[in-house]
Amino acid sequence: MANAGVQRTLALIKPDAVNRAAEIEKVITEEGFTIVERRQVTLSQADAETFYAEHKGKPFFETLIEYMTSGDVIAFILSGDDAVARWRQVLGPTKVSVARQEAPSSLRARFGDPGNDSKNGTHGSDSLTSAQREIKFFFPDLTLEAALTGEGAKEY
Ligand code: PPS
Repeated sequence: MANAGVQRTLALIKPDAVNRAAEIEKVITEEGFTIVERRQVTLSQADAETFYAEHKGKPFFETLIEYMTSGDVIAFILSGDDAVARWRQVLGPTKVSVARQEAPSSLRARFGDPGNDSKNGTHGSDSLTSAQREIKFFFPDLTLEAALTGEGAKEY
């Protein structure tokens, strides 16, 4: 399969895992990603609803929004080869109980709470298109080039 090349993706540390950010950042660098930008923010209800707009109407939407506004989150732009898919691999399955069964060394297995499907510790963009949208959401002040993902993205 062709190499996807250098990409940028959006990684998030969710509220319950923020106090373990140092451990998670260690994994990020050990896995070979470059942290291009890092920002700690508190999401408003409107922010969280915009970020998770694709899930509006799903039965868990309100729970997810309430959780994501319950404390700070830390957003990162990560750069690396095939970063979108590779970061999702490092995260493991969305549900922590599944992650603990199928990928016990994954971030969600290690830093998530199996009792609540919102509290899975960490998030990653699910495609290059999502990565561009999510990077612009958390880093709206970056120039277009800095927010770029995919082929042609430059290191800086
Ligand atoms: S879906 O419906 O398959 O697209 O959803 P999924 O990709 O599994 O999850 C999307 C985000 O919603 C959170 N989630 C939940 N929160 C609370 N309760 C339930 N049942 C639930 N199911 C999913 C989940 O943590 C995902 O957040 P991210 O930030 O993408 O990890």
